[in-house]
Amino acid sequence: MMTNKPSKPINLFDVQASQKVIGQENFLKAFETILNHGGYAQGPECRELDEKLAAYSGTQYCSTCGSGTDALTLALMAWDVKPGDAVFVSSFTFVASAECVAIVGATPIFVDSDPNTYTMDPKDLEKAIANVKKEGKLNLKAVIAVDIFGNPCNYDEIMKIAHSNGMKVLSDAAQSYGSEYHGKRAGNIADMTATSFYPTKPLAGYGDGGAVFTNNVAENDLVKSCRVHGMSPEDHYDNVRLGMTGRMNSFQAAVILQKLKVFEQELKDRYTIAKRYDDGLDAYFGKQKILDNCKSAYALYTITCEDRDELMAYLKENGIPCGAYYPRPVNTQTAYAKWNTRSLPVCEKLAKTVLSIPMHPYLDKESQDYVIETMNAFAAKKNSKAA
Ligand SMILES: Cc1ncc(COP(=O)(O)O)c(C=O)c1O
Repeated sequence: MMTNKPSKPINLFDVQASQKVIGQENFLKAFETILNHGGYAQGPECRELDEKLAAYSGTQYCSTCGSGTDALTLALMAWDVKPGDAVFVSSFTFVASAECVAIVGATPIFVDSDPNTYTMDPKDLEKAIANVKKEGKLNLKAVIAVDIFGNPCNYDEIMKIAHSNGMKVLSDAAQSYGSEYHGKRAGNIADMTATSFYPTKPLAGYGDGGAVFTNNVAENDLVKSCRVHGMSPEDHYDNVRLGMTGRMNSFQAAVILQKLKVFEQELKDRYTIAKRYDDGLDAYFGKQKILDNCKSAYALYTITCEDRDELMAYLKENGIPCGAYYPRPVNTQTAYAKWNTRSLPVCEKLAKTVLSIPMHPYLDKESQDYVIETMNAFAAKKNSKAA
């Protein structure tokens, strides 16, 4: 029997639901503390959050900052990435993964995706490196591996290839905080990691926020210096390198500290929903492959479908919000045209076929059933036409 359309609207994300679970009074208490101590920017809440996140990830150091884009840029600044450097980056991603490379004046070299995991294809990375070496114009500097939709990349392969070419790997874990790769948590997998606390991310703030993770004390000192305009730790009026205004504000840190209290449970609830989708959705839909011994953080649950636009219209007609993340690979976007040097067929195909469906820890079972059944009804029509 078909599940009736739920009476409550279904949300793709729900950025407010956890307020009830945590208790608004706890947020208000934390805000009152900040109003009373007056340390609004990079105050004690930020230091507490640095410590809690480093402990959660199992890394030595965490530096919270203004956004995920700042976190990526700060990591590149700490590695002194500059004009003349090649930074290899996935093209099937949110623009910030490549934008940070251009911000520091380096050259983004776009890499194709694996059609099953949707993350960087290590074989295509090797090809892209060989091309840059053959041209001989740029220094091989770094690889940015993006855990798209929360799914950890093939880090063993990517790090082996990068390290054997003298490059470091920056994990763009903006969508994957809380994910696991071979027993290690996001933050403690690559050479450095950047994450985001934008409100739709797995660990979400109420505005912009981000963090950089490393196990290297020198790198951490550089990130902290770049976060405040390249300030010297000895003389605050001597800026010894270029940096930015990249501080986190204390109100944001206070929100994320509250959200951390329910984060483990929220991740568990995301896994449960993803498993129900994995098991319940018709094989007509392609499902994102998670590598063995890994856990996605399921920032988004994303399928592929040849009739994506038709499916999207059908779901919307039936009250199910959904979104095509991302309809254009970064290498095909206007501001990136000068770096669009070769075709990336898997990224192009993904951009035409991906669809993200409702996924958040507070999506009730009735809504999950309704999503599954509505999608399967679409698949049944298509399957019967094909038979
Ligand atoms: C993969 C990826 N990288 C980087 C970012 C940038 O994060 P922020 O929006 O916090 O700057 C995002 C945010 O959407 C993202 O999804």
